[in-house]
Amino acid sequence: MAEINLDKIYASFLIRLDECNSIDNLNNLKKEFLGKDSILSIERKRLPDLNEKSKKDYGKKLKSFKDQIETDLVNKNNQILNKKYTDIEEKEVIDISIDWYSNEGSKEHIISSVMNEVVEIFSSIGYTVAHGPEAETSWHNFDALNTPDWHPARYESDTLYLDKNFDKLLRTQTSTVQVRYMSENKPPIYIVAPGRVYRSDQLDSTHSPVFHQIEGLAVDDAITFSDLKGTLEFFVKEFFGNNVKTKFIPHFFPFTEPSAEVLVSWKDGDWLEILGCGMVDPNVFKQVNFKKGTQGFAFGVGVERLAMLRHNIDHIKNFYDNDLRFLRQF
Ligand code: DAH
Repeated sequence: MAEINLDKIYASFLIRLDECNSIDNLNNLKKEFLGKDSILSIERKRLPDLNEKSKKDYGKKLKSFKDQIETDLVNKNNQILNKKYTDIEEKEVIDISIDWYSNEGSKEHIISSVMNEVVEIFSSIGYTVAHGPEAETSWHNFDALNTPDWHPARYESDTLYLDKNFDKLLRTQTSTVQVRYMSENKPPIYIVAPGRVYRSDQLDSTHSPVFHQIEGLAVDDAITFSDLKGTLEFFVKEFFGNNVKTKFIPHFFPFTEPSAEVLVSWKDGDWLEILGCGMVDPNVFKQVNFKKGTQGFAFGVGVERLAMLRHNIDHIKNFYDNDLRFLRQF
């Protein structure tokens, strides 16, 4: 019985294999050469009719024919997959550089720009900028600022503590920078300290657990309450405009004596509170070892509050949502 020419069939397989460019093509080719109706399968069915010797020899040839085709198919399969992925990689070039010319331009966040503006107003009259850490000691945040142990601001419900002993906390006010600065510098002192502060507050339209303040401190020979008034009136006019009036009403802060709240004249005869201030309490000077009789004033202003008043913003969360439709307005 004549054996068919497996080499010829294999040669035709190779030509067809070369033409395959998809996994589907490859599956069809596999069926054609190794499937139920393939020549291989027909030839295998003839094996039982052959004599022992031919059965063995031809059986071996058919087996190696089959193995060879299977190996070729697997290799080609890998080739097709590799090509698919390199094609994707080539097409999918990800450009990580900024298209500078179609970039709308970046700008400061409204909170930063208000903060910088306040700092610039004070820089124009000789103040410099000082900073302090956001993670503070209770001593800097409360004790050195003449805040007694029983003061409600020290309650856990108001302050975010960082340890069980209530020794460390997230500063609740930038007034801490007064203490830090005076511990390392002697008068004359004219500083503003912008920064982030933390309180254990629920978010509502005017409160946020994180917000921004600017503290001011002036310590110099014979500084009086008139200097404080003049300085803050200048600031209010620079920030809100010349026709805005300022009113000081008595208030209490532990670290200043006397203390006041500053109100500005608003629409419809309203007066709105914008900051707290006062003459530095002698007990604060004592904590930083300044000599008896030292005089100075301090003030603290909320940045979000200034921005909300100036731009008629009704909810504090607008500042932190980072919604570009909001941010682009300023
Ligand atoms: N630290 C005060 C607060 O967070 C604000 C303040 C009030 C600062 C009066 C002062 C001041 O320096 O004299 O509410």
